[in-house]
Amino acid sequence: MPKKYYITTPIYYVNSAPHLGHAYASVSSDAIARFKRLEGFDVRFLTGTDEHGQKVEKAAIKSGVKTKDFVDSLVPEFRSMLEYMNCTNDDFIRTTEARHIQYVQNIWRQLHKRNQIYLGKYCGWYSIRDEAFFSEEELVDGKAPSGAEVEWMEEESYFFRLSQWQEKLLEFYDQNPDFIYPETRRNEVISFVKRGLRDLSVSRTSFKWGIQVPERGNHIIYVWLDALFNYISAISTNDLIDYWPCNLHIIGKDILIFHCVYWPAFLMSLDIKLPLKVFAHGWWLQNNEKMSKSLGNVVSPSDLVQEFGSDYVRYFLLREVIFGHDGNYTREAFITRINSDLVNNIGNLFQRVMSFIYKHCEKKIPHKESDFILEDQELLQSAYKALDKMIEMMNNQSIHNAIGVIIDLGNKSNAYIDKCAPWHLKNSDTRRMNTVLYVLAEAIRVIGILLQPFVPEGAAKILSYLGINQCELFTKISSEFAIKSEYEIGKPEIIFERLYAYK
Ligand code: MSP
Repeated sequence: MPKKYYITTPIYYVNSAPHLGHAYASVSSDAIARFKRLEGFDVRFLTGTDEHGQKVEKAAIKSGVKTKDFVDSLVPEFRSMLEYMNCTNDDFIRTTEARHIQYVQNIWRQLHKRNQIYLGKYCGWYSIRDEAFFSEEELVDGKAPSGAEVEWMEEESYFFRLSQWQEKLLEFYDQNPDFIYPETRRNEVISFVKRGLRDLSVSRTSFKWGIQVPERGNHIIYVWLDALFNYISAISTNDLIDYWPCNLHIIGKDILIFHCVYWPAFLMSLDIKLPLKVFAHGWWLQNNEKMSKSLGNVVSPSDLVQEFGSDYVRYFLLREVIFGHDGNYTREAFITRINSDLVNNIGNLFQRVMSFIYKHCEKKIPHKESDFILEDQELLQSAYKALDKMIEMMNNQSIHNAIGVIIDLGNKSNAYIDKCAPWHLKNSDTRRMNTVLYVLAEAIRVIGILLQPFVPEGAAKILSYLGINQCELFTKISSEFAIKSEYEIGKPEIIFERLYAYK
């Protein structure tokens, strides 16, 4: 039985159309999900929409549409974003679905039974944009630390006994150093918890758009308590529960505390196993400011995909910044990155090798006609060993570095072709020429397989051109499955089209 691997994205607020930040979380999770599938894992990849709470309700009111109609009209945009970004999620959960509502109400009953919640009164600040509570001391210049406006709130509320979990949480972080990545985020969480935890308000009475507290219908369950449980509600209704505990929650750094403090505390209080890892990525910025709907400086992923295609958008997002750091989006950086890595390196390699074989080797992948010499062995070893390096990097969510291994292989292959110069060998030593081309075709085969999680369309073109299955598993990288000599190739097509600054 293949080992199970469960990965999730955050579920997206449906207060307006998806932007590049949402596409980023989706695509990075998708690359990891695809990578794990090709490694042979039985992967479950979940995403969805977070539809309750004041933020969504406020947006609906503003647009003058009934809240349910408003969310129903936006959800297809998120589904379609996943499609045009070429994501392979196995499920899409909406928090307004019955399967989720029933699950959350059931969780509430259990929390109640376990005396983890009690009725009290909340007096304090609330930020609708963050859907979070703040004490006076936490405010910065009268605003939430994120810069969002806050409003004073005084209402009857249920509280979760978060303060009781402080020591247990610290113990857990200590014993599970891999729980929060990257390291800086882990330190942030630990200092947050060390500063002391207050009980958390987990119900609201001043508005209605949410899941009702069982038997106390005037209370609505706090949107984060509702939302976080999507990770389990989505797999709880059938035999999928074996996927729990989740291997990896991919989140943005702005929702770290919810995932690394509240979420494990909720789970501990219910004796449910904790997820194995939470990875917090950075933000995409425009002119060094966070891209966000509220700031109105968002880049639309659908416009980008329409202009450049999903592979290029995926590639830029995954490769341009260190996963975990912030990145600044500019059109120039986009074009430079694609041209230098995909067009000039991988695309050019493919074109040089395959055109040469097409013209000078009767359109057939040549045989190895002479013994391998050191440089042949070195290039082949780099190809066969690339995967091991990438697995280690992908297990640390070092996606940009894992892609770097493929780019490095492309660079080495280009240097090898320059050095071996098959165009000279054509007149002096055709046996050696054939061996060189065989080695290059083999390197391209491996590159095609390795590129699949990141640029699935380009990779599929390379593989189908070479007569290799789509979704070729990584086990097929080894020399045992080497490229077939005599395989007849077609006229080489351009795999990665060059980009120009202006259309
Ligand atoms: N609904 C909550 C998550 C609940 S998970 C149980 C939420 N939704 S969100 O739509 O506001 O954000 C979804 C994700 O997009 C978050 O991980 C957030 O960090 C990410 N991004 C939003 N803007 C972003 C950028 N500008 N750049 C990168 N990602 C950012 O939070």
